Amino acid sequence: YSLKDYNTFGLDAKARFFVAINSVAELQRILADNSYPNKFILGGGSNMLITQDINALVIHINIKGIFIENEDDSRVELKVMAGENWHEMVLWTLERDFGGLENMSLIPGNTGTAPVQNIGAYGVELKDVFVGCEAIRRADQELVYFSKEDCRFGYRDSFFKNEGKDKYVITSIILRLTKKNHAINTSYGAINEELERNHCKSPTIKDISNAVITIRNSKLPNPKELGNSGSFFKNPVISKEVFEEFIAKYPEAPFYKVSEEAYKIPAGWLIEQSGFKGKRFGDAGVHVKQALVLVNYGSATGNDILNLAHMIIEEVRIKFGFTIEPEVNLIK
Ligand code: EPU
Repeated sequence: YSLKDYNTFGLDAKARFFVAINSVAELQRILADNSYPNKFILGGGSNMLITQDINALVIHINIKGIFIENEDDSRVELKVMAGENWHEMVLWTLERDFGGLENMSLIPGNTGTAPVQNIGAYGVELKDVFVGCEAIRRADQELVYFSKEDCRFGYRDSFFKNEGKDKYVITSIILRLTKKNHAINTSYGAINEELERNHCKSPTIKDISNAVITIRNSKLPNPKELGNSGSFFKNPVISKEVFEEFIAKYPEAPFYKVSEEAYKIPAGWLIEQSGFKGKRFGDAGVHVKQALVLVNYGSATGNDILNLAHMIIEEVRIKFGFTIEPEVNLIK
């Protein structure tokens, strides 16, 4: 069974068995079924690199639904089922003038996988609007609730990437959004520039969403046209000592101060400085407009992409002395 249409890199890996799941009860039943020893959970397929065929039952989470759980004059709590496409859900909230997700417009993938890496963009992260989520514990198929604290969110990180890895399947998430007095976040420079270009002085949440969509479309390739998985690498966080040495050598480098002790350097800049931006090796390449994104020009395999990633990691390490790490999940 080809997974080409189920991963945004467009890699033509095969699954031994495949099933699409439309309800929580169905998911519980299939997880309890011992006739398939190996099971692999597939969400939106937007953050993974499959390097070989998957010898398992691939379970595609396709559970749909958006429900208003609670609301008052100023806030609304939504329960969104895991199989809802993230961006379509964002558009659904904007149509109703619910605020909080506008900066995270156009992020590829499904809602159920958003907590795993605490998705974020343009100054806002999932954790800023997150209340909790429900998940099925794979060991006994019980439905378990996780509060925001339980999820232990960090930068592109959570419980589900660490201790909870492969132990739970998220079935829904609960978000708290605003109905009025929206907290407009224009902390990210590129958003301000885009709003100014449109002479937009007091932006609505829709204006913010449109600005984000324009910015993303100008830099990030559409996976339907060019296979990719968004940022392939995380931005490395380095200590103050390492940072001081680095910035003395590269005073023009962009950086974000994370705390008194830690600085984040854009991996895209490091990769561009290492000469990889726009480079192509067969059908595996580094995106022309954003060096953080690796792309599949058509028939690259997962290993072609992985080899390119290793080359980049090695060059960056030699040039700058620190190591960048993949942000995508490597499926080996
Ligand atoms: N830069 C370069 N060359 C490049 C790319 C970037 O020099 O080819 C420099 C830019 O000059 C800029 C800096 O790097 O000063 C930051 O670049 P950008 O604003 O594009 O953001 P980013 O740090 O590359 C992060 C997230 C994105 C998210 C944007 C906006 C990570 C790993 N990536 O990218 O997330 O959309 O900020 O908030 O944190 C994703 O996770 O898939 C993703 C796209």
